[in-house]
Amino acid sequence: MNRKEFIKNTGLTVASFAILPSNSLFAKDADNRVRIGIIGVGLRGQNHLELLLRRSDVDLVAICDVSDTMLSSARQIISKSGKKMPQVYTGSDYAWKTMLEKEKLDGVVIATPWEWHKPMIIGALDAGVKYVGSEVILGISMQDHWDVVKAAEKYNANVMMLENVCYRRDVMAVLNMVRQGLFGELIHLQGGYQHDLREVKFNDGEHPYGHGVEFGEKGFSEAKWRTNHSVHRNGDLYPTHGVGPLAHYLNINRGNRFVSLSSFSTKSRGLHNYIVKNGGENHPNAKVRFSLGDIVTTQIGCANGETILLQHDTNLPRPYSLGFRVQGTEGLWMDVNKGVYIQEKSAKPHQWDDANTWLEKYDHPLWARWSKETEGAGHGGMDFFVIHSFIESIKRKQPTPMDVYDAAAWSAITPLSEQSIELGHQTVEFPDFTGGQWMYRKPVFALTNDY
Ligand SMILES: NC(=O)c1ccc[n+]([C@@H]2O[C@H](COP(=O)([O-])OP(=O)(O)OC[C@H]3O[C@@H](n4cnc5c(N)ncnc54)[C@H](O)[C@@H]3O)[C@@H](O)[C@H]2O)c1
Repeated sequence: MNRKEFIKNTGLTVASFAILPSNSLFAKDADNRVRIGIIGVGLRGQNHLELLLRRSDVDLVAICDVSDTMLSSARQIISKSGKKMPQVYTGSDYAWKTMLEKEKLDGVVIATPWEWHKPMIIGALDAGVKYVGSEVILGISMQDHWDVVKAAEKYNANVMMLENVCYRRDVMAVLNMVRQGLFGELIHLQGGYQHDLREVKFNDGEHPYGHGVEFGEKGFSEAKWRTNHSVHRNGDLYPTHGVGPLAHYLNINRGNRFVSLSSFSTKSRGLHNYIVKNGGENHPNAKVRFSLGDIVTTQIGCANGETILLQHDTNLPRPYSLGFRVQGTEGLWMDVNKGVYIQEKSAKPHQWDDANTWLEKYDHPLWARWSKETEGAGHGGMDFFVIHSFIESIKRKQPTPMDVYDAAAWSAITPLSEQSIELGHQTVEFPDFTGGQWMYRKPVFALTNDY
């Protein structure tokens, strides 16, 4: 079957992406209230907590954490909201199991360190929870990813990665442009995680950002656990913010799939230099050898002939950027220079248009409808949408718009990139978590302005 026939057969035509009117679909059950619990009320969990407390359709019945400091901040947020204090589970690394057994939750939000996601997701599914929303990164090893996929299939349950960047306003406007064919047929996409995390990976054990060069037991928040991944692992450790949006543009797992991957990594200098500069060369952490290369570059080939380039860049001084580039046969968007160029439509040949003129014109209907509700939500408002779509899916008893196959494919980039680097940058095969269903599954993400 050639590509044209394939697209026809899988229904991936431009017309199939027309935005449907609001409230026309799934309106049934939209008025239900849902019982939600949160595991992990650290810095990210507290963002989710605030958004859940704002909603009148959510009963926050339980929270769980092992840190008194984080629980105390969470209690303050809850008291301020005027909502009922949920049951608090703490005191052991496995207190979440008791919470899951006792509370009969409709949905659980997980915002713990990466290494806890797989056991907590599977634990929630085993306890009968049908909707699990996990913060980014599904598991550590490839086997972890398979285990989560198999568990979700066994229980016919929803595992949604709470990948908020998929809902960024410019990212969604570009999705709208892709679906309306502005860029023509997509050819090459780029993205990544380019964020100077040195003040996140090191702190003084009290402040979340900077003020010291401690990590591990002496660190606070992400410095407590995330930095250890930079000590022991070399790969693209945080692929989902970059690849999630690109996967929607390319209909990954829905008519397309990742087929192969290769990664390259540079030497590691940034974290060591930061410790020496801020803690002195005699600080014990100056002796730590970091495995993570400062810049990890990953290429992915897709079944429909597109390529993706991802960059993980968290150890060097630089302004934040996810470095998106979406290029097709008719033109491209690049977020770093805030430019769009569409042949025969842009103002002048060979010159960038200010991206805003296009992004405003093609603002996604979800943003047009909900922008008031996004006010005050984290990361420029996009955090509202990821919780909104999780909760609306539960209320309507519908599959989440990003599912376990999306989560597994995006997150598996980490162990695959580690494997490729370990093998001397070899190209490795990308597994098909859908077991061939990618050929028949249809796009579902953000097709309406509902959620
Ligand atoms: N999507 C985003 O924009 C975004 C932003 C920040 C963090 N994150 C992700 O959110 C997750 C959490 O990150 P964070 O910044 O909140 O880290 P954090 O260290 O501030 O919070 C993690 C919390 O988990 C708790 N925890 C650890 N083990 C536990 C256990 N066994 N039982 C219960 N609680 C436990 C910790 O005490 C802590 O309060 C990570 O996956 C991170 O990558 C996502």
